[in-house]
Amino acid sequence: MLDTLGRPMRDLRISVTDRCNMRCRYCMPREVFGAGHRFLPRDELLSFEEIARVAAVLAGHGVRKIRLTGGEPLLRRGLENLVAMLASIDGIEDLSLTTNGLLLARRAQALADAGLNRVTVSLDALDPATLHRIADAPVAPERILDGIEAATDAGLGPVKVNMVVRRGVNDGELIVMANRFRHSPQVLRFIEYMDVGSTNGWRREHVVPAAEILARISARWPLEALPPTTPGEVATRYRYADGAGEIGVIHAVTAPFCHGCTRARLSADGRLYTCLFATDGHDLRELLRAGAEDPEIAAALAGVWAGRSDRYSAERSAARPAASPRNARRADPPARPRVEMSYIGG
Ligand code: GTP
Ligand code: 5AD
Ligand code: SF4
Ligand code: SF4
Repeated sequence: MLDTLGRPMRDLRISVTDRCNMRCRYCMPREVFGAGHRFLPRDELLSFEEIARVAAVLAGHGVRKIRLTGGEPLLRRGLENLVAMLASIDGIEDLSLTTNGLLLARRAQALADAGLNRVTVSLDALDPATLHRIADAPVAPERILDGIEAATDAGLGPVKVNMVVRRGVNDGELIVMANRFRHSPQVLRFIEYMDVGSTNGWRREHVVPAAEILARISARWPLEALPPTTPGEVATRYRYADGAGEIGVIHAVTAPFCHGCTRARLSADGRLYTCLFATDGHDLRELLRAGAEDPEIAAALAGVWAGRSDRYSAERSAARPAASPRNARRADPPARPRVEMSYIGG
């Protein structure tokens, strides 16, 4: 099953909730996601059975990797049961989870027992004050580090640690973060801050380009490039020349990877999105709840993928090739409305 640009569907990212126990300013700013925000009510969320059914149909279409996301996926009660259901689907070779780590320490073993293969933890800073500012909540970095340890002990490694780098916010911690995870089994990944959603006030001047990140790290500890482990991998890998382990950079802004994008996204309320920057998704919940049989769902999904032409990041970079002192202070031109990160899980 190929889209209009010849890309197969290989990965499915499933958001299980639009709620989160942090309020990162670049993802769920309190002005928008505060007390007045209406989160999805329970009956609008896909049930675990519905999610597993969509996943099984998509496995039949070639999906091999599944990643659970949110919001914060560990806020969805009984997530271990969903993990077990997904792990038993024929064809699924890799089942992983992206979490903020706050609830991970006491859940890691149960998740591993249920059949989860890997965990990725978001951690943008080690300094408590910086992390508090970013998360807009009094989050203790130790609690997240404990979650990372527990996941490693439970066999969910090598745990990847995601750091979204923003200029003037946490780029002062590049070396501190690198140092913390050198000589550890974890793989730290530096992520270019992306213009996802419409509420985070993204500006190009906030992005620290991957080339700059690599230059700053390698000035301290020389790096050597590593080949990709899987086709279509979003992170470019490097290892420390002194043998202290591996890091990654995700350069979605300065060097988009749309040409190899094999990812589909299922939102918590059952819409299928064919791009992280999409405006709309295709409603599968209605189809599921109208009593559609699997072949009908399979045909609908094949139709959606066959019509896919998304390459948002590549188009954005073609329109505005690089930041220059002249354009850096301006935001990019107003775009069509985009789905929020917390709704689609990154
Ligand atoms: P693995 O490579 O399987 O470990 O997972 P991953 O790196 O794709 O998943 P993760 O949830 O850790 O995402 C890392 C970063 O890449 C996040 O900032 C995501 O938003 C971003 N990302 C993942 N997939 C895409 C994509 O298709 N397009 C863009 N532009 N960014 C993506
Ligand atoms: N740009 C890049 N990465 C982001 N994430 C959240 N918002 C953004 C953004 N605007 C990251 C989270 C998580 C992953 C799924 O995406 O920190 O690690
Ligand atoms: Fe922060 Fe992740 Fe929660 Fe968004 S979903 S507010 S990035 S912890
Ligand atoms: Fe895929 Fe869209 Fe990301 Fe490009 S911008 S890599 S098409 S999800």
